[in-house]
Amino acid sequence: MFAVHLVSFFFSKLQEDPTKKVDRFLYAMRLHDDQLKDISARFQAEMKKGLSSESNAAAAVKMLPTHVRSTPDGTEKGQFLALDLGGSKFKVLQVKVREGMGIKRGGVEMEERTYPIPKELLIGKGTELFGHVSESLKDFLHQRNISLEKKHPLAFTFSFPCEQTALDQGFLLGWGKNYRPRGLQGKDVVQTLREAIDRTGGLDVEVLAMVNDTVATMMTCGFDDEYCEVGLIIGTGTNACYMEELRHIDLVEGDEGRMCVNTEWGGFGDDDSLNDYITEFDRDVDAASNNPGKQIFEKMISGMYLGELVRLVVLKMAKLGLLFDGRVSDALRTKGKITTAHVAAMEEYKNGLKNTKDILTELDLNPTSDDCIAVQHVSTIASFRSSNLAAAGLAAILSRIKQNRNLRSLRITVGVDGTVYKTHPQYPKRLHKVVRRLLPECHVRFVLSDSGSSKGAALVSAVAQRLASQRRQVDETLAPFRLSQEQLQLVKTRMRAGLEAGLKSKGPSTIKMLPSFVYRTPDGTEKGKYLALDLGGTNFRALLVNFKKGLQHNARLYHKIYTIPQEIMQGTGEELFDHIAQCVSDFLDYMGMKNARLPAGFTFSFPCEQTAIDTGTLVSWTKGYKATDCEGHDVVSLLREAIKRRNEFDLDIVAVVNDTVGTMMSCAYEDPQCEIGLIAGTGTNVCYMEELKNIKKTEHKFGKTEKGEKEDMVEGTEGEKNEGDAEIPKMCINTEWGGLGDDGSLDDIITPYDVEVNQNSLNPGKQRFEKLTSGMYLGEVVRQVLLDLTRGGLLFRGHVTETLKTPGIFQTKYLSQIESDRLALLQVRSILQQLGLNSTCDDSIIVKEVCGAVSRRAAQLCGAGMAAVVEKIRENRGLDHLNITVGVDGALYKLHPHFAGVLQETARILAPQCNVTFLPSEEGSGKGAALITAVARQKHD
Ligand code: BG6
Ligand code: BG6
Ligand code: GLC
Ligand code: GLC
Repeated sequence: MFAVHLVSFFFSKLQEDPTKKVDRFLYAMRLHDDQLKDISARFQAEMKKGLSSESNAAAAVKMLPTHVRSTPDGTEKGQFLALDLGGSKFKVLQVKVREGMGIKRGGVEMEERTYPIPKELLIGKGTELFGHVSESLKDFLHQRNISLEKKHPLAFTFSFPCEQTALDQGFLLGWGKNYRPRGLQGKDVVQTLREAIDRTGGLDVEVLAMVNDTVATMMTCGFDDEYCEVGLIIGTGTNACYMEELRHIDLVEGDEGRMCVNTEWGGFGDDDSLNDYITEFDRDVDAASNNPGKQIFEKMISGMYLGELVRLVVLKMAKLGLLFDGRVSDALRTKGKITTAHVAAMEEYKNGLKNTKDILTELDLNPTSDDCIAVQHVSTIASFRSSNLAAAGLAAILSRIKQNRNLRSLRITVGVDGTVYKTHPQYPKRLHKVVRRLLPECHVRFVLSDSGSSKGAALVSAVAQRLASQRRQVDETLAPFRLSQEQLQLVKTRMRAGLEAGLKSKGPSTIKMLPSFVYRTPDGTEKGKYLALDLGGTNFRALLVNFKKGLQHNARLYHKIYTIPQEIMQGTGEELFDHIAQCVSDFLDYMGMKNARLPAGFTFSFPCEQTAIDTGTLVSWTKGYKATDCEGHDVVSLLREAIKRRNEFDLDIVAVVNDTVGTMMSCAYEDPQCEIGLIAGTGTNVCYMEELKNIKKTEHKFGKTEKGEKEDMVEGTEGEKNEGDAEIPKMCINTEWGGLGDDGSLDDIITPYDVEVNQNSLNPGKQRFEKLTSGMYLGEVVRQVLLDLTRGGLLFRGHVTETLKTPGIFQTKYLSQIESDRLALLQVRSILQQLGLNSTCDDSIIVKEVCGAVSRRAAQLCGAGMAAVVEKIRENRGLDHLNITVGVDGALYKLHPHFAGVLQETARILAPQCNVTFLPSEEGSGKGAALITAVARQKHD
């Protein structure tokens, strides 16, 4: 008592500003920015804890996955009933989302009714509470003349923590705020509601989704603002939700896309982590609450507790003689006598002091004007702390989103609801200001939910409906790309038949099976300096290869890459070969070898009918080439003529080689088991070592050669070979397998998208297998699928842009990037952005899926083709088991993240008796061409 008098004497003597004593008294409630940053950092740590599967069970901040995966995109439609339980009011609503209205033009109509909940139900049996809910629903339908027979989809806003395993299943973790019904904890709330609706009877209602109020608020605001990815409630309780990257949510499978997480931040501090910020008043509020020890953060912030906090402070100050001259009334001693509404009234801008006086007088106190100023200041400090703490929590969430997305600044909108935020005059301003001060680099917009959370809950249901139907349609679209084992087996069989037919046929065949006049793979004795020219892949390359004398497997390479402009590829033949001659001239200058007259090998990656190693008549252009006056001509002569026209240097062109053959040779230099060459790049093709006796189409030729006329052949000494087959004469056959299907044999797997790509190509009807499998076409197939999905309204909000209509936008390198597992969806979006395609998160998931389906089919088809080739070689040799190596090149094989793996796996399954090793070619096929040249030259020397 003496101490009390001493304190009051001390204060009255000073006659100071009454707010000062309050400031001192509530020192611990006035939080500085440093403290807020500290709290924010602690909250960030708590979020991590809640998201991780290891620490989730013990986490105070529960971070509950909501199974809401996207915010509204404006295409939602339908009519829904909604229930809104857990805020200060229980409401039943009808929500109509109108189709085609546009999201900003009143696309939603709502009718609502608030139903009181009798006090005893809040603490009675849970089933009774739900009985009341469903009776109210029935009454609502009746009142509004809504048909009872028709099936009504229903969305349920339930503002308590639930562990959700799906949108329509959620197990109650615990009640809070002023709710304490018995018997529902751990139960599925949706099921409980369905049972209550059944018990009520006469209602045909389908509960589609249950959402927390934060989520529903985010969705409500997201309907008008696509940046809204955070929901915040500062009402009876407090809580926040936000869109988290799925890969960070351990409790949910999958790592593509995002999911809304209900943080249940009210529980922050339940593990004592906020103890140093908790005052004696917070302890008292907690001790007298429905749920002591729980929802510590909520009790420092939300409307249910704010008035009580002020009452306890005022009571204590009065008891200490700091207010009302030390007098205390019974009313002031009574729990609940100061409410949050009082706090708001006391802080009103103009009438605040008058309101304070009225409120205190109502409490049987007799306040002086200094008392009123002081009590008003208590309110201010309590509500200021509330908004500061909410700002700290929000800052943590926003920083996390920013970090997740690797952004330097973040543009985001927070959807907000709750009576405190809506009715306290200063609250929103203070909250916004502190958030912006804590995160100066973020552009944060706050949007007040105009119509409660029900609109959002209905939207969740609508989104769920939309996504389910979207998924079905995307699955249907992609189904033809997903080949069964039986289909792949059929492709293998057809490829095999095509190879055999091509070998036998003397006339044209779909798979051409062109003799290469290469009889053996290198043996490492090759030596000398050679020039190699490499035309027909992505670029033109000129190389100088030096095989060191006497040093096996030791070659030095110098090269330069030149691009061939499209107008040259598709101009006149003369222009094309002049351009090549010009590139060669530049290369020789670069190497200082203009006068050397080097022996040269010419990798020419198109089908050529060869009669010797140094002649090749172009059968037909493929891929992106269409130069005139070349088909039917010897390409070696065309090159020689161009060099002659240039009259500046001379070359001794010794060999013309397909890229598959060059690649096989190049790899065989490293691995003698390499007897197959595969290209999976701009085009696709395979060559392999075939036994001469099987090559019927050139029988007449071999007839001659067997009589000893081996003039044109590249024949050298025997190299290291598979045991037992060294003596069997072989020749490398360039299969030109890209032609499989040109006779219609693949029509059963060809999709309408492939038909479109074929029709728009330079060679309609030709290279059908190539058009399903190679880099030049995969992007186009993807583009056709995307066009179709967009036209169907399943992508890019149905907008078919000029970009999407542009042929060739999806180059192989983009497909490879989009499909990389290391890329987050955001990066996929930024690739699409670079291509001029503005995508949402959902869009990018679908685009990636389309790329995956198309490239997987390509790899599987190549795998099936490869199985046919290795099986043929195995059978040729009469082996039970074949060990063989395939030399591989091409951007699709080398750069695509999954292509090689799927191809190998398919070949393994479809050719179980073969052990196939894939060896990527290191220096391209140019080295192989040089090796062939070396063998040919040595033969002649
Ligand atoms: C309402 C929402 O607007 O706000 C409810 O529709 C939510 O779902 C409520 O629970 C939160 O505020 P309060 O103050 O009513 O608890
Ligand atoms: C290169 C070869 O490495 O790969 C070329 O040297 C070949 O001859 C090419 O045509 C195939 O790949 P892409 O992806 O360039 O078509
Ligand atoms: C309580 C509930 C939470 C809800 C919040 C706001 O904190 O636990 O689920 O979002 O109140 O209503
Ligand atoms: C095309 C060509 C073929 C080449 C392949 C890979 O299919 O016709 O000759 O090997 O592309 O570049």
